[in-house]
Amino acid sequence: MTAAFRIERVRSGIPGLDELLNGGIPRRNIVLLSGGPGTGKTIFGQQYLYSGLKMGEHGVLVALEEHPVQVRRNMAAFGWDVRPYEEAGEFAIVDAFTGGYGESAKRERYVVRSIDDVAELLEVIKEAIRDVGAQRVVIDSVSTLYLAKPAVARSILMNLKRVLAGLGTTALLVSQVSVTERGFGGPGVEHAVDGIIRLDMDEVEGELVRSLIVWKMRGTRHDMRRHPFEITDRGIVVYPDKVLRIRRGQVSLE
Ligand SMILES: Nc1ncnc2c1ncn2[C@@H]1O[C@H](COP(=O)(O)OP(=O)(O)OP(=O)(O)O)[C@@H](O)[C@H]1O
Ligand SMILES: [Mg+2]
Repeated sequence: MTAAFRIERVRSGIPGLDELLNGGIPRRNIVLLSGGPGTGKTIFGQQYLYSGLKMGEHGVLVALEEHPVQVRRNMAAFGWDVRPYEEAGEFAIVDAFTGGYGESAKRERYVVRSIDDVAELLEVIKEAIRDVGAQRVVIDSVSTLYLAKPAVARSILMNLKRVLAGLGTTALLVSQVSVTERGFGGPGVEHAVDGIIRLDMDEVEGELVRSLIVWKMRGTRHDMRRHPFEITDRGIVVYPDKVLRIRRGQVSLE
């Protein structure tokens, strides 16, 4: 075939990552960002959104785990000050954390009052996406939505996916797994998403080493190896030329 069908890609903006994805995440893909505690999922998601803002791609961050005030402060610590973008109507935080309680929560524009009501959450997300014309969305985390009810995880996820892809966004869904778990967040979830990027930490000679692997990405060829990454004061840096090997419980870097 000569006239190749060129797919549109969203550049993550995370140094080293787009090389693993053959240029970026195929547009409208809904990607699970999976990993244990402290592996860097939240920072990854925030960096994806801020890189988008720098490139003129508007974004929405749905905060289910942290107070919006804390989110802004943590982002600013990496040099990612989102306030000017919020004021310009290019970025929004959906507060699905406070339930509207507290003084600072009263100043938030997008608040989900009942955290257990997925229908309300979807409505607020839709409103925020439309208002800012978001191309990028991060939900941190989706695990919170179905921890107590794994049986409905898939249906919640499919509803989210319909909304996010339907509105034309390319979304990262943060998924929490335990330290020892090999999966990505449950069977209903892993097959429903278009892509899975998994973040890990392994102890090598008494030191924790971070690594990342692209487990699946519909619509594109992608790298199949595990690559080390670092979190610096400027965010995440992936090393596409280095490979982390785990053999019989021994981890080595090549
Ligand atoms: N400025 C920094 N420089 C280097 N590393 C940092 C910096 N700030 C945070 N970190 C590292 O990032 C980790 C937190 O990353 P993050 O909040 O993204 O994890 P997470 O995967 O979202 O975890 P959880 O599932 O608990 O929410 C910290 O434990 C720390 O190791
Ligand atoms: Mg987190």
